[in-house]
Amino acid sequence: MKLDLSGISSFISQAALEPWLSKAQTALETLKKGSGAGGEMTGWESIAALKPAVQDCKTYAERLSEISDAVLVVGIGGSYLGAKAVYEIFAPPDKKCEPIFVGNTLSGAYYERVIKSLEKRDFSVIVISKSGTTTEPAVAFRIFEQLLVKRYGASEASKRIIAVTNPGGGALRKICESKNYPMLTIPDSVGGRYSIFTPAGLLPLAVAGIDIDALINGAERSSELNSELAVQYAAARQALYNSGKKIEVVSAWEPNFRWLGEWYKQLFGESEGKDGKGIFPVSLELTADLHSMGQYMQDGERTVFETFLWAESASSITVPSAEDNFDGFNNIAGRKLDEVNRVALDATKAAHIEGGVPAIEIEIGHLCANNIGELLYFFMLTCGISGYISGVNPFDQPGVEAYKKKMKQLL
Ligand code: PA5
Repeated sequence: MKLDLSGISSFISQAALEPWLSKAQTALETLKKGSGAGGEMTGWESIAALKPAVQDCKTYAERLSEISDAVLVVGIGGSYLGAKAVYEIFAPPDKKCEPIFVGNTLSGAYYERVIKSLEKRDFSVIVISKSGTTTEPAVAFRIFEQLLVKRYGASEASKRIIAVTNPGGGALRKICESKNYPMLTIPDSVGGRYSIFTPAGLLPLAVAGIDIDALINGAERSSELNSELAVQYAAARQALYNSGKKIEVVSAWEPNFRWLGEWYKQLFGESEGKDGKGIFPVSLELTADLHSMGQYMQDGERTVFETFLWAESASSITVPSAEDNFDGFNNIAGRKLDEVNRVALDATKAAHIEGGVPAIEIEIGHLCANNIGELLYFFMLTCGISGYISGVNPFDQPGVEAYKKKMKQLL
């Protein structure tokens, strides 16, 4: 993985960056020692400690996929977005067993469609909730548990349900204990949005046939190699934020990264947006969004900085030539599509810098599970460091509770 900060140099001098680098270094040490705010929630930092759960995930995934055409994955927020993001990047076109993500909405219309789509398919349920008391997944679990029992009977249904929850206690654990549903755990020391390398992320991905060994090995490599890069990225983000660039736009050049953008927004938004502070996270999918948000990026309010995400693909597709050449594109006929995509990135980056948008670039190398694991871990480490620089606890989410409380009162 490579981090290129040259696109911020005309906005922040090296001298201005230095104090932020030193703050970021201190923040990294605090995080590693577990001595900062929320230090008891840094269990995600040691990938070696999470690895033993991989085999359990594979075993249960095999069991479920043997008897299911679809697996309902019930969860929201951190109990959803990591698996969804990686699944959307690698979803095999010839899916044997399709994960269907539910528990992330209260829309009846959505569930009508999902239930209809299950009519002719065998299905199972993975329910993921640390607390077990989050409204959306709790309601969805009731719906799909009852559907399973109706279809297969209680005894067969109990073979088609597996939960991922707290090791210590909680509502979901109680349900599972009373009905004999098997459980895998998210360690107490790992919060939802940092849980992609626990069974919360790995179990649904294993069901979908994604190489979870490669994913977690990439994360482990990242933990060994990328601390310095995370320090630099976190320092750059905070230096830019404190110079008035309040919004980070992560612009990815793969359409399949759209959900990775959602995961990034949750990770950073929920970790940094508190105490009246926080870089506002936005994500774009390019080149598509150049034809929507491109105008704003080039010419709108100058409070944004942009982080480009680039992955190399092995595709050999080229631009075809056309006999008539009415559209005038024969000048690029024969060139690889990905080469044209890269030129689009370089051109966009240069134009946006000229337009007043500082640019950071992260190159992940080849698009494979191993490199995505590396990237996800790098983002999580950066997020912890960046949160500590700005003086917030990056591992809690007190603001999320406010709406939950009000909704419970209103209901
Ligand atoms: O990152 C977080 O901690 C949150 O987004 C949670 O994952 C989300 O609120 C779901 O919580 P739970 O797993 O308890 O249902």
